[in-house]
Amino acid sequence: MKQIELTRTTAEGGGAMPGHAEFHPRGPLRTPHPEPAFLSVHEIDGHYGESYIVQRVSFRVHEGEILALLGRNGAGKTSTLRTIARLEQPALTHGEIWLDHQPLHAMKAFEAARAGCQLVPEDRRIIPGLTVEENLELARIVPRRGWEIERVYELFPRLRERRRQEGVTLSGGEQQMLAIARALVRDIKVLLLDEPYEGLAPVIVREIEKTLHHIREEGITTIIVEQNAVAALELADRAVILDTGRVVFDGTAKEVLENEDLKREYLAI
Ligand SMILES: Nc1ncnc2c1ncn2[C@@H]1O[C@H](COP(=O)(O)OP(=O)(O)OP(=O)(O)O)[C@@H](O)[C@H]1O
Ligand SMILES: [Mg+2]
Repeated sequence: MKQIELTRTTAEGGGAMPGHAEFHPRGPLRTPHPEPAFLSVHEIDGHYGESYIVQRVSFRVHEGEILALLGRNGAGKTSTLRTIARLEQPALTHGEIWLDHQPLHAMKAFEAARAGCQLVPEDRRIIPGLTVEENLELARIVPRRGWEIERVYELFPRLRERRRQEGVTLSGGEQQMLAIARALVRDIKVLLLDEPYEGLAPVIVREIEKTLHHIREEGITTIIVEQNAVAALELADRAVILDTGRVVFDGTAKEVLENEDLKREYLAI
């Protein structure tokens, strides 16, 4: 199958939301915004210095949806998440990102986090020397608008059991739970998960999956990047596939699961 047949929405995308139509820091949009989405990523470019890695990436996520962002090693998945979260590298050099009417493209990382964009990086970043509960307390210092810690413990009973234990001494799966829990106690609108199943035993993966189902029931919008594409697709509503920093597919998760060409060509399944 030719790549072009798999390409659906590279020309479609987000853009200015109602009430912000005048806000065009990087020039007018090339394509009009078809309908408002909760998170609109519109023609973003991301550069590490001279390296042009994220190339005109567009997709939209509706509130409460889980989007699987997939692609082979080096396809640009982590870079895309980092660009959306407005980390310094890669630098956003073109395009717009709107989260619930807020222009993430005009923000720095801490402002994007405050606007509700919570990235859980692959290495989980548990703070050494702090207990589970202290890791959670520290995450929620400002602003106090996210989940109560008690509510997090209901979702993750294992964290309640280990609340006095130092976070870095937890198992890999428990550390992943703590990393997600920390995002929840902040004021969260969208959860960006980079390889949450990385290095975890299948039984633990299933436990985290169950939690992500609960999180979806709570109405939290999620983008999940996973090497384990089948597991991500079984969880997700929709899927975007990247190849060399570009979107090559945007559709439902079911379409990808049923499309052998797509899976072989871009996901190595
Ligand atoms: N700090 C950096 N400086 C320059 N190039 C980078 C940097 N980080 C990543 N890249 C390059 O950007 C491209 C995309 O990398 P990225 O980590 O986003 O891919 P990925 O899809 O997350 O891959 P993986 O599945 O291996 O995690 C790769 O070619 C990589 O070499
Ligand atoms: Mg990656």
